[in-house]
Order: sequence, then structure tokens, then C-alpha cells
Amino acid sequence: DIVPVLTIDGPSGSGKGTISRLVAHRLGWHYLDSGALYRAVGVAAGWAGIDLDDDGALVRCTFDTQVDFTEAGDGELRVIVNGTDATDELRTETAGAAASAIAAIPQVRAALRDRQRAFRQPPGLVTDGRDMGTVIFPDARYKVFLTASAEERAERRHKQLKSKGVSVTMDGLLREILARDARDAGRTVAPLRPADDAVHIDTTGLGIDAVVERVLALVAPRA
Ligand code: C5P
Repeated sequence: DIVPVLTIDGPSGSGKGTISRLVAHRLGWHYLDSGALYRAVGVAAGWAGIDLDDDGALVRCTFDTQVDFTEAGDGELRVIVNGTDATDELRTETAGAAASAIAAIPQVRAALRDRQRAFRQPPGLVTDGRDMGTVIFPDARYKVFLTASAEERAERRHKQLKSKGVSVTMDGLLREILARDARDAGRTVAPLRPADDAVHIDTTGLGIDAVVERVLALVAPRA
């Protein structure tokens, strides 16, 4: 029997990371944060001093970058890039912007395709990203497309950064989010768009628990 997959796609700040992790935990399924793979390549390229315009070097860097996910003692997911714990560096806006630039290169996406599909292991997989339901797992049994207003997404990001002691302006964040949305939706390969068979959930004004329950309700009757 084929391993069930639940894909959760959406723009940055839609809450897909938090929701996916919680849903995976509740179902007892594996979890893949596909954005972390793109961010890892971005960070590794930075370490190697590779220019973000040098497509050839970025493609080689993709093949050379080893990414491992491990669970720390506190249950938090750590991302190890070429043997170094890069979890915190991966979360920075710099890493996100580098990931978004790299993610527009078709050979980079192709190089990461099978690495993502390898996460489909029993009893099931929850995965979040931009093209999980459209390109990587088009045959997924459950597909969700999460959205939220740009203002709310900027606000969530602001809170998150503030709690880490990083000070940024709401204006700057909103501009960055809109720029990344435009780049992710406007690229020619695997642009951010909902799969035809995805269930849309607008999380504006919804709490985390409410969204988790809605997603679980899609899976419950058939799991
Ligand atoms: O989801 P996250 O913000 O970590 O993703 C970082 C960047 O990686 C996105 O802006 C997007 O350009 C790229 N990405 C992608 N396809 C995915 C996941 C992420 O192109 N499946």
C-alpha cells in the first residue's frame, strides 16, 4: 500500500511550519521541512563564498551539501548542514532570501527532488513548502494550501523575531514578505500556487490550535 502524504503549501509566514510539525506529531507521521533544504544550500553557499548569481557553482553546491535533521533532547528539530548545527542561521532573513534566489534555479530544484521524496516513509509524511502538492508529491492523499494576509504574516514574524531579541520594523518586514511572495509566485519553475485539489485554509485571525484541528479533520475520516 502506498504511504500517505499530507502536503501543506503556502507563502512565508502562513504558519505552515508550525502547523505541519504539530500535525505530524499528532498523527505520528514523519515531517519534512522542504524550505530548510533550500535554506541549507543557501547557507552552505554563503560559507563557501559562492556568489548568488553563479548558477553553476550553486548547482554544484546543492549536490555537495549534506543536510541532516535530528531531534534534540527537548524535542526540537535541529538542522545539521555539512556536519555543523545551522538551525539558528537557517532561520535568518538572509538565509530565507538566499534560499528564495537559489530556489529559482531549475537544476537546484531537480537535484533536491529525490531527496525530498525519500522522506515518504511509513506510516506517513507531513511536508510543508511551496510545491509539495504540485510538483514533489502530486499524488499526495491530502493537500492543504495555507494563506494569511500579508499584514498578519508580517506581524507573526515580528513577534517571533522580537522574542529572540532581534529588532526589526514592521514596514521592513512587510516589504520583505511581499518581495519574497512575488519572487516565489513569479518564478517559471515550480511557482508558488495551490494544487487544483488542495483544500484552502485562510489562517488570518485563527489560532494555531484551530488550524491544527481543521487540518486533522481532513485526515481523520480516512486515516
Ligand atoms: O518555507 P521557507 O520560508 O523556509 O522557504 C524558504 C525559501 O525556499 C522560500 O522563499 C522559497 O523560495 C524556497 N522554497 C521553495 N520550495 C519549497 C520550499 C521552499 O522554493 N518547497
